[in-house]
Amino acid sequence: MKISRRSFIKTGALASGGILITPSHLSNIQAKNNLSGSGPVVLTTWDFGYTANAKTIELIKEGKNSLDAIEAGIRIVENDPSISSVGYGGLPDEDGIVTLDASVMDWNGNAGSVAALEGIKNPFSVAKLVMQKTKHVMLAGNGAKKFALENGFKEENLLTDEAKKIWLEWKQKYPHGQNRIDPNIHHDTIGMIAIDKNNNMSGGVSTSGLAFKIHGRVGDSPIIGAAMFVDNEVGGAVATGNGEFMMKTLGAFLIVEKMREGFSPQQACEFAVERAHKHAKNRLNEGIQVCYLALNKNGEHGAFSLVDGFQYALTTSKESKVYKSDYLVK
Ligand code: GLY
Repeated sequence: MKISRRSFIKTGALASGGILITPSHLSNIQAKNNLSGSGPVVLTTWDFGYTANAKTIELIKEGKNSLDAIEAGIRIVENDPSISSVGYGGLPDEDGIVTLDASVMDWNGNAGSVAALEGIKNPFSVAKLVMQKTKHVMLAGNGAKKFALENGFKEENLLTDEAKKIWLEWKQKYPHGQNRIDPNIHHDTIGMIAIDKNNNMSGGVSTSGLAFKIHGRVGDSPIIGAAMFVDNEVGGAVATGNGEFMMKTLGAFLIVEKMREGFSPQQACEFAVERAHKHAKNRLNEGIQVCYLALNKNGEHGAFSLVDGFQYALTTSKESKVYKSDYLVK
């Protein structure tokens, strides 16, 4: 394995965030890290971000703020039973229970999150309500569920037949809970950052976390600064991958602070992946992944991951495309 130390130690030119991948609706051009200049931009993890971004940009164009617009985009992915890593249809923990983590920040620096939430399809909306209706930042477990039910959310069975089948197969194969990190099983968090027409930025993440985790495990998604951070003066960052490595390095916060110091979003993402690599390097054979997206106030973006395979969607008022990010360990 070779480690590519690419652009962040080089000075000068802004590095490109990624290479365009080519589903049928896309053309084969290089990603630019500034498609927008200024104006609305939506940046989201994974290819499911393409659909989510379409909703978010539509609402921003109608004049909605970035917070309400990202909520609508994230809910599409949370509600989709075919996505096995977010919301309804997410893979359960080792006991067969789906537990969800989510967080949000707005342009005023307000933050909210929920951890290990059971039975509620839209954890991002609950996190948003924690931010808007309480004096707290994070609610967890039964308390988070009680808060959601008191605020009109419905309790639902989130374990689909398909997710249950995959869990039962895993349980049969690994009766003692070994091998929770299977590179073939996706644990892809949705992380979205958006700038609205007023140049206000919000960020959010939502996930069912690591498949087959120990019951009670909480990942990076509800930890403000680990999977998501926004500072409206500077920019925002979101993460996906094995949360323990973002938690040990507070990667999203680190990225925003590096951008504050003058790093481009791409340089800042590469810096944070390098930092995570220090913790992950002896476990790469387990299939560990760490991925970051960053967006600054000029609408410039960056994307970088630890190993191959990370994709993201970038949408402006003019166009929407899915890119494959560059990565550290070649
Ligand atoms: N990044 C999602 C998790 O590890 O829970």
